[in-house]
Amino acid sequence: MNPAPNLILVGPMGAGKTCIGRRLAERFGLAFVDADQAIVDDVGSSISSIFENVGEAGFRVHEKRVLAQLLARHGQLISTGGGTVLDADNRQRLGERGFVVYLRVSVHSQLERLHRDKTRPLLQRADREDVLHAMAALRDPLYRSVADLTIDTDLYSPAEATAQLVVRLAAQWQIPDLPA
Ligand code: S3P
Repeated sequence: MNPAPNLILVGPMGAGKTCIGRRLAERFGLAFVDADQAIVDDVGSSISSIFENVGEAGFRVHEKRVLAQLLARHGQLISTGGGTVLDADNRQRLGERGFVVYLRVSVHSQLERLHRDKTRPLLQRADREDVLHAMAALRDPLYRSVADLTIDTDLYSPAEATAQLVVRLAAQWQIPDLPA
């Protein structure tokens, strides 16, 4: 049993981190935290505006700072942004402060789930499919390197994926004692 103080979801855009994360948080009585939303609240502008103003590199600086702040707390389900694992310090902190679940998704499913998306700056281009394949090649080994548990979300609805995870987490993750 791994007694990590937080439950953390990693995986690419469109893997269902927010949707499955909300359900899992409710099931385990954890506070749901969307790391992207925490960045928006901290910086005071949208993800798109941050990318416009300071570029991806600037966004990653905000992402790293906010993640470190979030991970100082416990009893949370943290849904991370898809690029969080790119940074080695982030990967180390995730492993130290959470039980990490990798929600895998194929590029095919990502394209279906995200075809109308206008909120993700890295996907606002014509060669979306190529971009997603390149990201998957780079990031899949990184997600695997931090994951305590992996589930392929292509196979399941969010409700089914949640049900699967509840069973597997009950066997592998020791839920932290939360203050009353
Ligand atoms: C990103 C994923 C996004 C967000 C930003 C960059 C990425 O989060 O952090 O647009 O690099 O994959 P989601 O994975 O929650 O969409």
